[in-house]
Amino acid sequence: MRAQALSARGGGALEDIMSLTPIGGRLFDGSGHKVTTASLREKKLHRDPITCITAYDYATARLVDEAGVEMVLVGDSLAQTMLGYENTLSVTMDEMLHHVKAVRRGVKNALLIADMPYGSYQVDAKDAILNAARFVKEGGAEAVKLEGGERRADLIRRIIDAEIPVAGHIGLTPQSVNVMGGYKVQGKNLTGIEQLMHDAVALDRAGVACLYLEGIPREVAAMITAEVTTPTIGIGAGPDCDGQVLVFHDILNLTFGPPAKFVRRYGDGAALVTNAVQAFRADVRSRQYPSDEESYHLPKDTRAALETVLARKRAMGR
Ligand code: KIV
Repeated sequence: MRAQALSARGGGALEDIMSLTPIGGRLFDGSGHKVTTASLREKKLHRDPITCITAYDYATARLVDEAGVEMVLVGDSLAQTMLGYENTLSVTMDEMLHHVKAVRRGVKNALLIADMPYGSYQVDAKDAILNAARFVKEGGAEAVKLEGGERRADLIRRIIDAEIPVAGHIGLTPQSVNVMGGYKVQGKNLTGIEQLMHDAVALDRAGVACLYLEGIPREVAAMITAEVTTPTIGIGAGPDCDGQVLVFHDILNLTFGPPAKFVRRYGDGAALVTNAVQAFRADVRSRQYPSDEESYHLPKDTRAALETVLARKRAMGR
């Protein structure tokens, strides 16, 4: 009924009216700028590789979005990269939300995904839905990600029922570090491969918007990618996934340690920052910073008046 009323008033089909809904300050007008869960699926169909990167603050969010990535993930890896925790287990909902809000302000076109931290979805489904809804309502996320395979399928269905797209994450799931006994590549034997296939199919059937595959053999990631309809986004999962994700701090050498095998460094952010800060300090110490051009000056007449006053004072003092 409402559709007909709108259609009659506007003279267009419902899709035309709906397509003028602004998303993240942009018109979702089909012009291909705003990435949605639907456009990710299109990309899989057209074998068009998807790029995802993590971002945790406004400045980096703007940079990665303007560089053209399709997806920005506010990963719980911020526990280590931004907050200096030992692993991802300590980061809280409120800490994650703080970063999601900042990233939201910087991202216009990419799909914004918020990672659900450890403890925010494992206890009960009601809590999980409320926490996922906070990321959408307060943080402006367009999807949430959670770790785990087939045992999460029912929960994922319930979150999707609450109108929140969900990204799955299987393989090496860092929130299970204590259970896995370290960060170990998963699916290296036949039992492990079978479990991963079950996990992938269960999450695909549950309706995930995409599926992150972390730390699994290339051959297994290729089988999953061929099997599921949802786009797979790999990290340490070889080149046959529908897309790839890397951590911002990894590609820029900002992690203070040796990189994992799958990390490719695209820049040396550590050297850039260190050199810039050392150069600044050297200029301060040698009084080369700031120069006269980098200083504010009095207007000519105020300066002349000030000189007159000072000269008078000097004369009186003599
Ligand atoms: O937290 C994170 O950055 C992630 C990606 C590595 C997939 O989960």
